Order: sequence, then structure tokens, then C-alpha cells
Amino acid sequence: MSVQEEQTVWVKAVSYGDLAVNTGKTIRYQGEEVALFKLSGGKLHAIQNRCPHKQGVLAEGIVCDEHVFCPMHDRKIHLPTGVVQKPDTGCVRTYPTKIQDGLVFIGFSKAEELAS
Ligand code: FES
Repeated sequence: MSVQEEQTVWVKAVSYGDLAVNTGKTIRYQGEEVALFKLSGGKLHAIQNRCPHKQGVLAEGIVCDEHVFCPMHDRKIHLPTGVVQKPDTGCVRTYPTKIQDGLVFIGFSKAEELAS
């Protein structure tokens, strides 16, 4: 029998100063694709890069306040929660971020099997 434990792996993504405001940047790590955004107030948000509708690339979307509009069919996604706004439905995964020594790190969850 084994037990699964979620662990966060912090992956260095980009220099904070190199991120353009309100412009998405695609970050890839072990098969996962993340859209990273720096909002005009300086806050960071990282979400799954593919729209739940038809896989539009969210890093290429238009940012307005705390939302990104999918470039394909304009669905509106709330960056802090990943929730698609009404009248549409669905959500994308969100990722934690942190800044350390001027670098942006994204937290990826990895399930680790523990022997019991
Ligand atoms: S693919 Fe995003 S709204 Fe259709």
C-alpha cells in the first residue's frame, strides 16, 4: 500500500523585470504549459495556458483588470481563481507564484508516492 503526498516544486520562470505589464508569457515545465501575467499593479498570476473551450492560448489573450479574454472566442477568465465568467462556464488551473532575488518562480504540484 502507498500514500500520495502533494509537493510543490518551485520552478524559475523569468526575471520579474523582463515581464511586460498586462502581457502573457508562456512558461513550459515537464509537459505543463502556464500563462504568466504581471498586472499593471505589479501582481503576478499564473494559469493553465489552454482555454477550456477549444484550447485557445491564453498567454495571447487581452488582459483587462484581473481578467484575460481568450484570443479565440473571447471567453473571460478570472486570473486569481481561473474561473470562466458567466454566461460561459468552466475553469483553468491556477499556479502559485513567488518572487525571489528578482526572479519569478512558479509552483507546480507533484504527487509523490510514499511507502507506508
Ligand atoms: S477557445 Fe477560448 S473561448 Fe473558445
